Amino acid sequence: MSHPNHTTVVGIQWGDEGKGKIIDLLASESDVVVRFQGGNNAGHTVVVGGKSFFLHLIPSGVLHANVKCLIANGVVIDPKICIDEIIQLKERGFLKKDENLLISQNAHVIMPYHRLIDVARESDAQKTKIGTTGRGIGPAYADKVARLGIRMADLLDRERLKRKLIPILEEKNFLLSHYFKKEPLSLDHLVEEYHGYGNRLNVYIGDTSSVLAQAISANKKILFEGAQGILLDIDHGTYPFVTSSNTVAGAVSSGAGVGPRYIGKILGVLKAYTTRVGTGPFPTELEDGIGDFLQKKGHEFGTTTGRRRRCGWLDLVGLKYAIQISGITALAVMKLDVLSGLDQIKICSAYRHRGKILDIYPSDSDVLQEAEPVYETLAGWKEDLSHVQTFEGLPLQAKKYIGTLEAMLGVSIEMISVGPSREQIIHSSPRVGS
Ligand code: IMP
Repeated sequence: MSHPNHTTVVGIQWGDEGKGKIIDLLASESDVVVRFQGGNNAGHTVVVGGKSFFLHLIPSGVLHANVKCLIANGVVIDPKICIDEIIQLKERGFLKKDENLLISQNAHVIMPYHRLIDVARESDAQKTKIGTTGRGIGPAYADKVARLGIRMADLLDRERLKRKLIPILEEKNFLLSHYFKKEPLSLDHLVEEYHGYGNRLNVYIGDTSSVLAQAISANKKILFEGAQGILLDIDHGTYPFVTSSNTVAGAVSSGAGVGPRYIGKILGVLKAYTTRVGTGPFPTELEDGIGDFLQKKGHEFGTTTGRRRRCGWLDLVGLKYAIQISGITALAVMKLDVLSGLDQIKICSAYRHRGKILDIYPSDSDVLQEAEPVYETLAGWKEDLSHVQTFEGLPLQAKKYIGTLEAMLGVSIEMISVGPSREQIIHSSPRVGS
């Protein structure tokens, strides 16, 4: 049985599902909100009182005065971005109490050479272009695993930081100058700059896993906030067109330092259609007027990079796989309002690959690239949904769309979002078992 006080929220497509809004809603009933993977490649947009907040690193729970936000060990942190977000939040009247934000001493730091290498690799015509966010995420995680990383605690001690950076920088500067033909970085400047960030963030750095253990013992309500989406998982996603962390719900355990039994209810968030930023296979992509309609009506531009998101129909093969890999127990469907106005809506129920029907998600990206979607077609609806407050209040065809998804996915849809603001959400009672 899942832990009754805890909820894990993960995206079950390629990110940008609208997790920020769901996390914001659930955070109002939580004591602690925890980020456990990813970095400032993520971008959550939350609309409060007509104002938009763009958060990349700090959990969106920070918009609630009594919520404690943890950035746990599994996250990679660009300290400058973190400081900028703290300043912006404080200027707008949030994060009044410093003790409401705690950053793991063990979280790895994104260093300038990580960003430089990320961008240089992406612009190398001979390498597979992933379309990364250019934030240094992949190189930072690579150094963590190679045991060459700088961790948040290292920023607090100038001598230790310097000692660790000397051999690392020797290697990185060799790579930067001889392979990528870039300027090498100065050790002294790096030590000064990053020790300075350590001083600024000192008050926030601590042992997030112990704080979490105490919160669990005290029966606090804990919300684990996933970033990106399951199809971008480094192991289970569409490799190599993925991000460099585990995005599945199981990553909570290693990324936050809690036992798997504390992951709690696992809520999967999906958009009523599909989007993807960056390169990689996308069988249901629409490169036509309907794709443009979804892109424009859904304002599908990345929060982090401003890139135009690729758009397409919902892909149930990918969703079923994501649900299975993460043990999703409930669903939230976002942006249902965007589909209003379409004559027909299609759902991909299987793929056709070299004459064969595939209903299991292929682990090979080349197969996925060649796969053609097999669609079920449903009638659309014309009504505007932005003021609908109950499931019963939805147009018949919208109810049918939701009902079809639930039946095909076998998991209950508990929330349906019909607009960006906190109020535009339909809570619907479970109709199918999970
Ligand atoms: P990286 O995480 O910057 O290394 O980028 C790797 C891939 O993940 C690229 O296709 C990015 O567009 C994608 N990606 C990373 N973060 C997000 C996100 O928050 N939303 C959607 N896509 C993302």
